[in-house]
Amino acid sequence: MKAILCQQFGMPESLVFAETPSPTASKGKVVIAVKSCGVNFPDTLIIQGKYQFKPQMPFSPGGEVAGIVKEVGEGVKHLKVGDRVFSMPGWGGFAEEVEVDAMKTLPMPDGMDFVTGSTVMYAYGTSYHALKDRAKLQAGETLLVMGAAGGVGLAAVELGKIMGAKVIAAASTDEKLELCKQYGATEVINYSKEDLRERIKEITGGKGVDVVYDPVGGAFAEPAFRSMAWKGRYLVVGFAAGDIPALPFNLPLLKGASVVGVFWGAFAANEPVQSMQNFKELLSFLAEGNMKPHIHAQYSLENAAQSLTDILDRKVMGKVVVVV
Ligand SMILES: NC(=O)c1ccc[n+]([C@@H]2O[C@H](COP(=O)([O-])OP(=O)(O)OC[C@H]3O[C@@H](n4cnc5c(N)ncnc54)[C@H](OP(=O)(O)O)[C@@H]3O)[C@@H](O)[C@H]2O)c1
Repeated sequence: MKAILCQQFGMPESLVFAETPSPTASKGKVVIAVKSCGVNFPDTLIIQGKYQFKPQMPFSPGGEVAGIVKEVGEGVKHLKVGDRVFSMPGWGGFAEEVEVDAMKTLPMPDGMDFVTGSTVMYAYGTSYHALKDRAKLQAGETLLVMGAAGGVGLAAVELGKIMGAKVIAAASTDEKLELCKQYGATEVINYSKEDLRERIKEITGGKGVDVVYDPVGGAFAEPAFRSMAWKGRYLVVGFAAGDIPALPFNLPLLKGASVVGVFWGAFAANEPVQSMQNFKELLSFLAEGNMKPHIHAQYSLENAAQSLTDILDRKVMGKVVVVV
């Protein structure tokens, strides 16, 4: 089969498009003929050796796929050859075929296309877990989303609206913020040219926001924390800016506020029943037409490395996919 291979840790341009042996399905696993692979920020980290998992070389990046079951391993009961499925292999999706744990693989609902199927689990799963389980976001509360036009950010904007919050989107360009408005943000802040704290004060009449959703980190984290209301919840989702911010401990004290960690992968592993319930709720939002992943661009397998470069260059809005 053909695949994009990481043969040594490095930037996307070090990836190679090559022929490699097809996988076979071992016990408890299935082989999926990949139709579409969703691209996520961690794919840019895994190829650089900066992610919590370091696969054996050579490997293909690509953590979220949709496709057709090609082979079923011993002991797998809920899937058969020919099923249309979505799955979370973690890596291996930038390839014509990938072997995946059957327990991380589910049949796709009728009518769902492969591109959509490869973009619903990761970003929406993370943002829904963050807002629902970790922040316990309530209807009528104010939610500030940083990096709001990114993969998990735009999902948080959309879900915040569905959950009845007033959503303030913050991002680096007016074009990104325009998209956030279409996805439910009622107020926007361009943090590359506006003062974040001043604008939040202005928008909330001095009260501050109830919940901050932060997948970016870096220099805006502390001003965002300082802009929270009494009993605010600050969701630590990721560090796309590269720097892990530090927080003076007096700030949560003064606001009766919480710093709340979000680790969706560990949640799904530790609380599978709750995670499956969340997933069912997300699929119902999709079926009702309230949720629609924004597909910014599609790349061929041969050109898949470019999708990672575009994410690192902050050019992507919503999701990008590699169509195989
Ligand atoms: N905790 C969890 O369970 C979990 C799950 C999924 C993802 N994550 C993390 O969440 C973060 C976002 O993931 P994603 O897939 O949504 O990524 P993404 O689509 O690339 O979005 C990240 C956003 O961060 C902003 N950004 C600021 N500085 C950046 C930089 N130097 N490089 C790239 N982006 C930068 C960009 O928005 P502006 O240009 O508007 O600033 C961009 O839209 C990542 O750190 C990822 O590891 C965590």
